[in-house]
Amino acid sequence: MALAIDLSGTSAIVFGVANHRSIAWAIAQHLHAAGARLTITYQNERLAKNALGLIAELDGARAVECDVLDTASVEAAVEAASADAPLTSAVHSVAFANREDLEADFSATGIEGFRTALEVSAYSLLPVARAASAKMTNGGSILTLTFHGADKVYPGYNVMGVAKAALENEVKQLAAEYGRRGIRVNAISAGPLNTLSARGISGFADMQRIHAERSPLRRNITQDEVGAAAAFLSSPLASGITGHVLYVDAGYNVMGV
Ligand SMILES: NC(=O)c1ccc[n+]([C@@H]2O[C@H](COP(=O)([O-])OP(=O)(O)OC[C@H]3O[C@@H](n4cnc5c(N)ncnc54)[C@H](O)[C@@H]3O)[C@@H](O)[C@H]2O)c1
Repeated sequence: MALAIDLSGTSAIVFGVANHRSIAWAIAQHLHAAGARLTITYQNERLAKNALGLIAELDGARAVECDVLDTASVEAAVEAASADAPLTSAVHSVAFANREDLEADFSATGIEGFRTALEVSAYSLLPVARAASAKMTNGGSILTLTFHGADKVYPGYNVMGVAKAALENEVKQLAAEYGRRGIRVNAISAGPLNTLSARGISGFADMQRIHAERSPLRRNITQDEVGAAAAFLSSPLASGITGHVLYVDAGYNVMGV
């Protein structure tokens, strides 16, 4: 019986490193520690300096610029990731909404802001899943990141709640579609973490404070805890799990008051 997470001899791609606080970075570190050959993407030239410096810290990791709204760039990143060893894991850790849509009343969301949030934060899982699954010839794992705001109202989360609800439904549909090929599709619903994206959410400080006060573990979670859960879900230890949203939130989601 093998109980250690061992991803040696496999390749993984992680989309969405911006800086050392990025959830994608914590996940990349854990997959690397488990022995996976890593390809890590960053969005654009503006983020390159930070991202390239970090990625260079992981032995043998490849850095690729990738805008998830450009299907050709997603395909090129996945192609690079599967060049040396079979791709078994893809992690989608990408989201965006315009700042004004995370500050005003939800009902004020305009069509452009709605479209942007849904395209980047929900739709983009599809090109990632298509490209990655095409390279997972011997099964694999696709993982995305969601938040409790998919289910419950968090003032300030606004249109991102809609995007995460869509994303969680995509996880179920993709799991059903890819299951017969041995490809599992799951999401981690992380508690609030202080990252670049989180800083754009107007109610973020309250979210963190209330989670720490009321969650069963009486604290906030860490990026490292999400990284560990991601390594588990990406590994053969989670071979029976698909279509699932795993809460890594110190238990907050089970509380009524
Ligand atoms: N921070 C939290 O509290 C929290 C909680 C639950 C879920 N999440 C989710 O975790 C994921 C990662 O976010 P994070 O908190 O690590 O913040 P982050 O800002 O570090 O990561 C978001 C990433 O998305 C990338 N991105 C945005 N638009 C893109 C595009 N068009 N193409 C490619 N990349 C693009 C950004 O460059 C950035 O690297 C997101 O899906 C977020 O919603 C975050």
